[in-house]
Amino acid sequence: MTPTSTQCRETREVHPHRRDDETMSFDNASASLLRALVHAAPDGIFLVDRHQRIALFNPACEGLFGWSAREALGEDVATLIPDWRQQPALRSQVQARRRDGTTLTVTLATAASAADAASIVATVRERDITEQSRAERAIREADARVATLIQTVDNGVILTDRLGRIKTFNLACRRLFGYQADEVIDRHISMLAPAANADAIQSLLRRGNQADEHGRIGTVRGMTGLRRDGGTFPMELSAGTTVQDGEPVFVVAIQDLTDRKHTEERLAQAQKMEIVGQLSGGIAHDFNNLLTVIVGNAEFLADQLKARQDLRGLACEISRAGQRGAELTQRLLAFSRRQTLKPVAVDCNELVSSMHDLLRRTLREDIVIDIAFGAELCAAFADPAQLESAILNLSLNAQDAMLGGGRLSITTANVTLDASYQSLNQDVRPGDYVLIAITDNGSGMSKEVLDRVFEPFYTTKEVGKGSGLGLSMVYGFVKQSNGHVSLYSEPGLGTTVRLYLPAVAAGRPTGPERPDSVERLASRGEVVLIVEDDPFVRSYAVMCLRSLGYGVIAASDGAGALQTLDDDTHFDILFTDVVMPGGISGWELAETASRRRPDLRVLLTSGYALETIAGRSHGREHLAILTKPYRKADLARKLREVVESSPPAAICREC
Ligand SMILES: Nc1ncnc2c1ncn2[C@@H]1O[C@H](COP(=O)(O)OP(=O)(O)OP(=O)(O)O)[C@@H](O)[C@H]1O
Ligand SMILES: [Mg+2]
Repeated sequence: MTPTSTQCRETREVHPHRRDDETMSFDNASASLLRALVHAAPDGIFLVDRHQRIALFNPACEGLFGWSAREALGEDVATLIPDWRQQPALRSQVQARRRDGTTLTVTLATAASAADAASIVATVRERDITEQSRAERAIREADARVATLIQTVDNGVILTDRLGRIKTFNLACRRLFGYQADEVIDRHISMLAPAANADAIQSLLRRGNQADEHGRIGTVRGMTGLRRDGGTFPMELSAGTTVQDGEPVFVVAIQDLTDRKHTEERLAQAQKMEIVGQLSGGIAHDFNNLLTVIVGNAEFLADQLKARQDLRGLACEISRAGQRGAELTQRLLAFSRRQTLKPVAVDCNELVSSMHDLLRRTLREDIVIDIAFGAELCAAFADPAQLESAILNLSLNAQDAMLGGGRLSITTANVTLDASYQSLNQDVRPGDYVLIAITDNGSGMSKEVLDRVFEPFYTTKEVGKGSGLGLSMVYGFVKQSNGHVSLYSEPGLGTTVRLYLPAVAAGRPTGPERPDSVERLASRGEVVLIVEDDPFVRSYAVMCLRSLGYGVIAASDGAGALQTLDDDTHFDILFTDVVMPGGISGWELAETASRRRPDLRVLLTSGYALETIAGRSHGREHLAILTKPYRKADLARKLREVVESSPPAAICREC
């Protein structure tokens, strides 16, 4: 009931004493004045009789307490002021009760009634109304700000009581853990982590008394979050403590580390591949020098031993083993992105189509080969021979995964990898690519296998069946070609390997490079200056060159070669190693020599050819390179190519 309109009923109990006729008019006047004052007073005024009942209740009281005077009169004063009987002070702040049950703090002043000492007149005023409401509003606003902050932050935030029972569970937590707030409120926070993490959470909460001056307790890393569906995720917990309504509460912030962990794993994987690449590249380089000597000398021996077929057979064995070794080091170099690539614009549809017969002959009959060509396919910028080798390797892997037969599909398409793809695969440059996808419906791979397949020598095949270099080579080749490889595999269902090769900008000529058809040709009397720091390789090369009819001058480093230049000694061809000690590389030597003798032909050789890899070879692609290990036939063919080509017109320093 709302307070009724005020009446002067309250003055009923005020008894003006009539003494005589003279004073009566004064008394009447003062009584009505008093009545008016009480009626109009901004403070609440009430009178409590000796029986502790309310005997007067002015309009301000009605506004303050919500009772009408009619309702209040005759009621026990404790209805208004529960502690009335314990109020010793005449003027004090006390808790009062409104009609609707809410409480308010009032300033209460009392005095004995002049008319009846047993009655008490009381004035009440709501305490510092403006100050209090301002403070309350500030608190309400601060609370609202904190609540909004808690709900809008990306991190999970949980407030618990001192026992760890959840009291607030923000929106981010709902997303992270999959619970609605009402499913977790009042339950212990340790429900959000597997049992193994419960101790860590408990001990974090036990450290509540060790909080710093900002209330921070500490952070626990390496925790695991447990979702409603039983799934888990890596998380970090930071806890702090504060006080709410006089009770300690814990604030727990939760950071989902899933993305960070993926990034770290990808980074670690990339670093591992880089290190293994450097290591294997270095080993392969040194092995190439050794193999050059082994294979070359074995061939030479075999040539010389025509009369001793038994020994000639042994020499041929050495040569074959050396060549197998050379193939392995070649794959290692491919993995470490240090093989010599000759990228050209390749029509991948044509290349895949031309491989069909080879694949049909190579793969078992129970493998169905499906090829689907993408329409209007762009040319890809890649080394066609290496691309064929990659496709063959992947097809063989597919066959091995389809022991009972199956389907091998090779498809091509134009694709654009955009920035969003890059955000998942940071080493991918956004742009246009030609995609070659090789899919099988074989055994597929588990996550453990998938994580390691690109590592060199990682194989699940029995000894002798696989070297574990197939995918490493594919990986290195595609990376070196500025492309990207992705693997998708489902155990039991199959695997798709996608090769993304950079698409050639319009205008470049297309079509795979024509394979060499140079025959072994002897010298026409030219002189070769050979520069090679490895004495074994040098003497092998000298032997080969002489047997091919070339005149030979040998130098063991760049300085020796420059000396020969200074001496004006005649030679037609400079045949130099690229990486040499002594501060002058094969490139620099070639540049200097070509400047001095513009007619000079140059042939470079290297265990790896960093300088010629795609992207770094700008301006130098036209220079001939012979990769180690090389055989006499390779050397003879390459030298003829060089002699018959035009001289290296522009070896530019800036390149
Ligand atoms: N298509 C595939 N399906 C299932 N597993 C595969 C597939 N391709 C590769 N693998 C797995 O990856 C491993 C590594 O493959 P990779 O081609 O590098 O080496 P390999 O085939 O074992 O030996 P290599 O190719 O040198 O003869 C394989 O041993 C196999 O376990
Ligand atoms: Mg393989």
